[in-house]
Amino acid sequence: MFSYVAALVAVAAIAVHAQSGVANCDREYVVQSGDFCDEISAAQNVSTFQLAEVNSAVIDPLCDNLFPGETICLGVTGQDCDVVHVVAEGDNCIAIAANASITESLLLTNNPNVNAECSNIGIGEVLCTANVTIPYTPSTAA
Ligand SMILES: *[C@@H]1O[C@H](CO)[C@@H](O)[C@H](O)[C@H]1NC(C)=O
Ligand SMILES: *[C@@H]1O[C@H](CO)[C@@H](O)[C@H](O)[C@H]1NC(C)=O
Ligand SMILES: *[C@@H]1O[C@H](CO)[C@@H](O)[C@H](O)[C@H]1NC(C)=O
Repeated sequence: MFSYVAALVAVAAIAVHAQSGVANCDREYVVQSGDFCDEISAAQNVSTFQLAEVNSAVIDPLCDNLFPGETICLGVTGQDCDVVHVVAEGDNCIAIAANASITESLLLTNNPNVNAECSNIGIGEVLCTANVTIPYTPSTAA
């Protein structure tokens, strides 16, 4: 009985890995018709950086190759920020950080795509506003 259950769990684990192709995927998402990356990020609480980093093997830098039915990974276990802010007109990093009760330094650490001057954020971009450092590693990419 135990080995039967263990075998089922093992098969399930392999199946989950096979879906998005990302090891240790914490959250998976099936792309819907009309989806685009920042819209998925905003709806699913994933930062723009994290969605791109985790799926760098399958989503191109412009995010113009998503297809309906494709399973992508939203976050890897232990490196999954799900506290986010969608950038609105007039936002800046100091205000976003203050509003989230975190330092600007932590905001920049958790969003490596944002430059030190915070001059390259855009409306609709999704930033991780978690109050802890997310330990992103390059190996996050599949
Ligand atoms: C996203 O985060 C908000 C705020 O915490 C929460 O209300 C919402 O249910 C979350 N959505 C998903 C899809 O996790
Ligand atoms: C401030 O926080 C509120 C509630 O979490 C959110 O709705 C709003 O968009 C935030 N504004 C900024 C500038 O971060
Ligand atoms: C960090 O955020 C979580 C919710 O995401 C909250 O429960 C916790 O109290 C916060 N910790 C600090 C030190 O602000």
